[in-house]
Amino acid sequence: MTPTFPSKLPHVGTTIFTVMSALAAEHKAVNLGQGFPDFGCDPQLLDAVDAAMRAGHNQYPPMSGWPALREAVASKIEALHARRYDANTEITITAGATQAILTIILATVHAGDEVIVLDPCYDSYVPNIELAGGVAVRVPLTPGTFRPDFAKIAAAITPRTRLLIINSPHNPSATIWTDAEMRQLQALLAPTNVLLISDEVYEHMVFDGAQHQSTARFAGLAERAFIVSSFGKTYHVKRELMAWTSQALDYNPWTYWRDAYVHQESSSGQVH
Ligand SMILES: Cc1ncc(COP(=O)(O)O)c(C=O)c1O
Repeated sequence: MTPTFPSKLPHVGTTIFTVMSALAAEHKAVNLGQGFPDFGCDPQLLDAVDAAMRAGHNQYPPMSGWPALREAVASKIEALHARRYDANTEITITAGATQAILTIILATVHAGDEVIVLDPCYDSYVPNIELAGGVAVRVPLTPGTFRPDFAKIAAAITPRTRLLIINSPHNPSATIWTDAEMRQLQALLAPTNVLLISDEVYEHMVFDGAQHQSTARFAGLAERAFIVSSFGKTYHVKRELMAWTSQALDYNPWTYWRDAYVHQESSSGQVH
């Protein structure tokens, strides 16, 4: 008998990326749907990877990433946004931003928790929330301008809201949250217990003199935020995905994973 099983994500159809990429290929159009760079990555990066492999750096890294890399990320954030994260406890390297977001959601969202997403949003958010047993609450961005509508966000917050996910610079509109909007969000969340995922994977794709307002710049947001960045986006190396998250919370999702894993292994008697 061929086994069958009910889908855990029955509502997920073909993703918009798949649809748009197929259309772009068919019509030989510029693909603005999915970020395919049409140029190679910096030869210095290739040389550095080659040199590292030849120097024998091929072992399992620590769970949260190589200390030197975490330190470099902490220094970069400090240089750009004047907030110092502890490279040992607050920076975690992941296999791409997509994995970082899934891991944060799985580690923080309990069954029945509500997670607010601002529509339109990156299409992995909602399936991730559903896999965690959470309920996605879709709040539309302002039609036309794609700016956050704080009255609507405020109205969506309930005692069951665990997380809010924001994305600036925004995919797909390229809208960048202003300093005033970040401060407004800070004030809105201040009396709440809501955690924040700040998806900042396009942080370096900012034009016309605009400035990326990282959540790291706002103390009242940073204390409740997981900030997600992406080497894949920044260095346009899509295949060798790497990303990091930084959080000033007294809680590290990867510690949670390690503990849950060890616990599971010990209770099934398979500790090695
Ligand atoms: C808003 C947003 N977040 C995250 C990602 C995923 O980043 P990564 O390629 O590092 O997994 C994407 C990719 O398209 C994206 O558009």
